[in-house]
This record gives sequence, structure tokens and C-alpha cells, in this order.
Amino acid sequence: GSLEPGWADEVRALARRRDAVLLAHNYQLPEIQDVADHTGDSLALSRIAAESDASTIVFCGVHFMAETAKILSPDKTVLIPDAAAGCSLADSITVEQLRAWKAEHPGAVVVSYVNTTAAVKSETDICCTSSNAVEVVASIPADKEVLFLPDQFLGAHVRRVLERENMHVWAGECHVHAGINGATLTAKAQANPDAELFVHPECGCATSALYLAGTGAVPADRVKILSTGGMLDAARSSQAKSVLVATEVGMLHQLRRAAPEIDFRAVNDRASCRYMKMITPEKLLRALREGRDEVHVDPVLAARGRAAVQRMIEIGR
Ligand code: 13P
Ligand code: SF4
Repeated sequence: GSLEPGWADEVRALARRRDAVLLAHNYQLPEIQDVADHTGDSLALSRIAAESDASTIVFCGVHFMAETAKILSPDKTVLIPDAAAGCSLADSITVEQLRAWKAEHPGAVVVSYVNTTAAVKSETDICCTSSNAVEVVASIPADKEVLFLPDQFLGAHVRRVLERENMHVWAGECHVHAGINGATLTAKAQANPDAELFVHPECGCATSALYLAGTGAVPADRVKILSTGGMLDAARSSQAKSVLVATEVGMLHQLRRAAPEIDFRAVNDRASCRYMKMITPEKLLRALREGRDEVHVDPVLAARGRAAVQRMIEIGR
């Protein structure tokens, strides 16, 4: 919908009054990305949240991201414009399931993607995001078993890069990225033979992308498996005229801003995350006016999960 006149000015004025920093994930609506103090990927936003001097963090993203900010900064007020903005990937493992899995593999090191609940983080040794998953797993001694959760496609990517056999991967997935499949990617790549491919490792098509590169159907140097932040860096240095983007469609906004001369096209233009899009301009305004929804994390769980999240923001700097 169209924005109320003065919306952005009011958001900024209210944020100043609350001593709040506004953070937006790369999948947020364009107007939310544009009003935020910082837009970025999960890792960059976690680092900014941890380092910010502001007394309030307004997290325009999904609930686990706001929870992660609260775990890192328990003394700050963390607001999310709609606490019901969940994540199908975070929902794909419960803490009870994780405990049972750990019991089957005593001594294994648990690596959880940041897309998990605070309860799952409390049973985790190191968290990671898509930008540093490879570095995080590489930091674990080779003789240790690894339990990687919950994303099977990111897990398969890490396993492939590190050629690590003693790594078990949970069978979870994100419904948005799993829906960007190999058949669609192959058809789009064939129809756009000069395009580069930027593929998020959560995608069902990440394996197909590497297969296309392996067979020479797409030159290997045109296929890049990247986090959303990595896609922006790659866009800034790319010489390509067109790029096919396999991730949530909100990403196109920052990519087009970063490299206006490149024609960015979604591999699947229906790949929109309904949870990310629950954060609307109206709800952001309400969050700042009314101080809600405030994010609380059980202090015991937060204390147990904090070291795992701190290791995540340190690795791959
Ligand atoms: P990144 O921004 O870390 O690449 O994460 C993607 C994602 O799906 C977050 O929900
Ligand atoms: Fe979760 Fe997928 Fe939405 Fe990201 S895009 S928030 S992983 S459901």
C-alpha cells in the first residue's frame, strides 16, 4: 500500500525519542529497508545489535533475529513490530528433538543456524549464519562429530565444501528457499546463458547450481553460493550484465541499489517470506509509538545460549 505522508520522518523522530536503533533484514519491504539505520544479513545485524550504544533495538525481521539481539544485549529493550513473525526453518526442530539427537551422539559438537529458537540455542555449542557456517564448522577439531541443524541444504553445502564425513545434518528446511528448486533454476539459467547465478545456501537448488557448474552448463565462475550479505558484496564487484537471484525476493531491493547497472532477476518471483512481510510500515510506527511488541527471553535460556551466539559473531570477522 501507499505510505502515509511524513511516515518516514515520524518513524525517525520517534526512534530518536526512544534512543532506538532501527535494524532491517535484507528481506524486509523496501520502505522498511530504506527507513532503517542499518539493513543487512543475519550476521551483520547481530553484530550491530551487540555493538550499538542505543538503549532500544527495533528489529524489523523475524522473531529469532530479535531474540538473538536480546540474548546478546539482555539489558537493552528489544522491540519487534509483530512478535508473530516466525520462521518455518526455526520451527523445524524443537529443543526436545535436539536433546534426543544429542543423546544419540554423545560428545558431538552442536552447531545451530541462527534461525532457531532461544531454547534450541541454549542447547547449542556454536551458532552460525549462512555467511560463516563453513568457518564455524571448520573451527571444530576434525576428530569431533558435528551435529548441524536445522537446515539440510545449508548443512549439505558446508559438508560439501569441507568434505567432512563426521557431520550429521538435521532434515529441516525453509519453505521459501526449499521452493526455489533445481528445475526452475536450470530453466532460468538456460534462458539467460550470460547471467551469473547468486544462490542462497538454504535453497533447494543449491546442489543443482553446483551441478550446472560441474557439467559446464553454466561456467563455474558464474555460480556463487552466498549469504544475502555476500550477494551484496558480489554485486558491487560483478562485471555481469544480468544476475539470476535465488533467494527471498526482498533481496532484490538492496541488490538493485548496490549495482543499478545490473539486471537482477528472481529465479522464483513467488519466493516471498510471509513472516518477513508481516513487518509493515504501520506496525513499525505502532511499535515506536506504543513500545511493542517487546521481546523477552527467559534469562536462564539466554545465559545458556549467549556463549554460542557470541562465538558466532566472533568467527569469520
Ligand atoms: P542471511 O541474511 O544470513 O543470508 O539469512 C537468510 C535468511 O533466510 C534469514 O531468514
Ligand atoms: Fe525463515 Fe525462510 Fe522466512 Fe528466512 S525466509 S525467515 S528462513 S521462513
